[in-house]
Amino acid sequence: MSDNPDMQVNYSNPGGHSGLDRRDFLKLAAVGGAAAFGGGLVLPRASWATAMQPDRDRVELDLFMAPSTSQLRPGAPTPVWSYSGKVRKGSPNILTPIPGSYLGPTIRVKRGTTMVVHMHNQLPEPTITHWHGIDLPARMDGHPRFSVGPGATHSYKFVVENRAGTYWYHPHPNMRTGIQAYMGLAGLFIVEDDEEQALALPRGAYDVPVVIQDRSFNADNTLFYEPNMVDGLLGSDIVINGIPGFSLQAATRVYRLRLLNGCNSRIVKLAFSDGTPMTVIGTDGGLIESPRSYPYITMSPGERVELWVDFRDKPVGSSFSLQSLTFTGAGVVQGQFKNIMNVSIVRAETETLELPSTLSTIQRYQLADAANAASPRVYPIAWNSAVGGFMLNGRFFEMTDTLANERVPADTLEVVKFTSTTAGGPRVAHPIHFHGRQFQILDRTVQSSWQTGWNSLKDGFCDAGWKDTFTIMPGEEVRLLVRWTRHRGLFLYHCHNLPHEDAEMMRNYEVV
Ligand code: C2O
Ligand code: CU
Ligand code: CU
Repeated sequence: MSDNPDMQVNYSNPGGHSGLDRRDFLKLAAVGGAAAFGGGLVLPRASWATAMQPDRDRVELDLFMAPSTSQLRPGAPTPVWSYSGKVRKGSPNILTPIPGSYLGPTIRVKRGTTMVVHMHNQLPEPTITHWHGIDLPARMDGHPRFSVGPGATHSYKFVVENRAGTYWYHPHPNMRTGIQAYMGLAGLFIVEDDEEQALALPRGAYDVPVVIQDRSFNADNTLFYEPNMVDGLLGSDIVINGIPGFSLQAATRVYRLRLLNGCNSRIVKLAFSDGTPMTVIGTDGGLIESPRSYPYITMSPGERVELWVDFRDKPVGSSFSLQSLTFTGAGVVQGQFKNIMNVSIVRAETETLELPSTLSTIQRYQLADAANAASPRVYPIAWNSAVGGFMLNGRFFEMTDTLANERVPADTLEVVKFTSTTAGGPRVAHPIHFHGRQFQILDRTVQSSWQTGWNSLKDGFCDAGWKDTFTIMPGEEVRLLVRWTRHRGLFLYHCHNLPHEDAEMMRNYEVV
C-alpha cells in the first residue's frame, strides 16, 4: 500500500458508516495515487490541481466530539458536549481553543487549504459535523445521512475554496442538531485570503469572535432544553463565546468583531448602548464591497456579521454594552430586550487604522441573467396543523427525498423565491439556510398587514453581501439569486431555528 498520507486515513466505523466505506476505500486504493480520494471520487476534474497542492497548503486535524463540563454558573459545573481538536499536520495555529469555553476551537485556514479532518464521535449517540457556509462536495458536507454512531470516526477531505470570511461548524444529525448544538457543539471556521490580508483591518487581539448564544438552566445547573414548535427555544441567559458574563476588555483601538448568532432560536437586534455606530464590513460570505453603517443589526440563528468598531475616542474607564433591542412580529417570545455583552475600555493605546472605503469586489448578480428569470423556483413556508410543524416546499424532510422543483442545474444562476404567507398557523420569522452556497438577496416584499413587525427589524437586515442564511418574516416574500454549486449531489436547505429544523423543516436539493 502507498505511504501517501491520504491512504493512512482511518476509516474504521464501528458504529455507523463513515466518510468512505470499505468498498470506496478499496476502489480508491486500486486507483492509487495522491489525488484518488479527493480528486477521483468527490472533486470534479478542475479541482485535481488544487487537491495536489504541496504539503504546506494541507492540514490534517483530529476533531473530537465528547461529553465534558463547563463552569457556567456558580455551584455545580454544567455537563456539556464539546468539540476539541488536535493538529496532525500543519501549523498548530490552525486551531485556537477558547479558554474556559464549551465552544470548539476556532479553525483558521487560508483559502486553498486542503483540509483532512478526522471527526471522532465520542458522544453517546450518532452525529455528523457540517461546515456551515463552505462550498464543498456533497459527500463532505455533513448531511445527516452520513451520521456515524458512538465510537466511530468519520473522515473528511476538501479544499477550502471560499473567500475569506467567518464560517462555522456544528453537528447535523437528523432531528438532533438542536440539542447537540445546545449542549455546546459548535465552533468558528475562519478563512483568510490574500485580498483580505492586504487590507488594513484589525488583526490579532483586535480581531475578536463574538459567538452569541443563549441557554436556560435547571436548578441543578444542567442545561434546560424543551423547545416548542412555535418559537423554538429562547434561553434566559446570554452566553458569549461559551463564557457566561463575558466582557470585552478593550483598548482605545479599532476592533473587528466577528459576530455569529449561534443561538438555537433567538433573533437579535444589536446596537451599542452608547450609540457607537454599527459599521458592517462583512456578512456570511465575507467582506462586503464597502463599509455600511446600520442603525442596528438584525441577526437570526446561523447568520454572521463582521463589524468595524471604533473605540479610539472612548475614555479609559468607561463601559457600555452591546444590546439586543425590542422588536415585534417575529414570534411569540422573540424580541425582548437583552444585554448581550459588556465592553469596558481598560487601556489607552494609539490607533492608526482608518476605515477603508473599499473592502472588496462582489460580482453583482442580475435577475436578467438568471436562467429561470421569468419563472422563479418558489419554496413556500407553511404550517401543517395536523402535525404541528412548519413545512418547506409543502413537505417535511425525508433523508434522500427531493421533489422535481428541488433538482437544480449545476453551476447555473437562478432566482429562488421563498414565501411565508400562509394563513392559519403561528406566525414566526424563519432563518433559511442553503448548504454549500453563498447567494445574494434580490429583494423583499411584505404584505401590508405584516408591515409593523417587519418595520421593527428591516433596517438591520444585512443583505448587502454574500449570504448563506437569511431571515424571512411572516407575510414576507424574499427573492434570492443563487448560482448553484458545480458539486453535484444532495445538499440541504432548512430553517436554522434548530427546533424547527429538528421537527423536519428541512429539505434536500439535488444539484444535477
Ligand atoms: Cu448551520 Cu444545515 O446548518
Ligand atoms: Cu450549513
Ligand atoms: Cu423555522
